[in-house]
Amino acid sequence: MAKTLDLERILHRQGFGTRKMCRILIVNEEVTVNGEVCDDPDAKFALDDTLHFTVNGEAWQYREHSYLMMHKPAHYECTHKTQFHPTIYTLLPEPLVERGIQCIGRLDEDTTGLILLSDDGQFIHKVSSPKHHVPKVYEVTCKHALSAADLAHLLSGVKLLDEEETITALAVTSVSTTVIHMTLAEGKYHQVKRMIAAIGNRVEALKRIKIGQLTLPDTMAAGEWRWLSAEDLIAVQS
Ligand code: URA
Repeated sequence: MAKTLDLERILHRQGFGTRKMCRILIVNEEVTVNGEVCDDPDAKFALDDTLHFTVNGEAWQYREHSYLMMHKPAHYECTHKTQFHPTIYTLLPEPLVERGIQCIGRLDEDTTGLILLSDDGQFIHKVSSPKHHVPKVYEVTCKHALSAADLAHLLSGVKLLDEEETITALAVTSVSTTVIHMTLAEGKYHQVKRMIAAIGNRVEALKRIKIGQLTLPDTMAAGEWRWLSAEDLIAVQS
């Protein structure tokens, strides 16, 4: 049987502000649950994903944890406190930020593409920990044409500045003379840019297109986000 909880605490835990703020929303009749206005902050509801509610007319579904994907646009930063650019968190509804959603790994300010966000610590650890080797695929546009020897070099391992060991790409495929798809198992600081610099070239544009078996949909425009489905969650971890 699903646990039950009063509406005031449900809204609070789902990111709609302090308990007092949530109580006010409820008594002011700003909240509906499963299609009906509920003005009783102490009314109890089962905590499962059949619980649908609206707050100020906006529809929500109860979620124990949030899992989502975003197509990160260029010129956004992946931190909360940014200096020069807006943060990607401004692209999300406020309740998600309020409940502590965070991005899983970071992309540079000028990198675009697939980024995952969640408030589930175990999931974040599983996807970001180098131990779990979740592969990530990047579309890398380089300044100069890449030779077959360059691709072989990335696959056999390049030595990065300030790193002891050589670092290898899991896979590299050529898309055009200057564009490759490169698969990496780790996510070291500026890793793609440093690997490409190590073969004497330079990254002109960088886009992450896949994490595990989850691909950034062609239909998702930069700046858009969506919830991850159960199948997406399996794909990320496979
Ligand atoms: N490697 C980079 O150099 N930058 C990124 O944003 C991601 C991977």
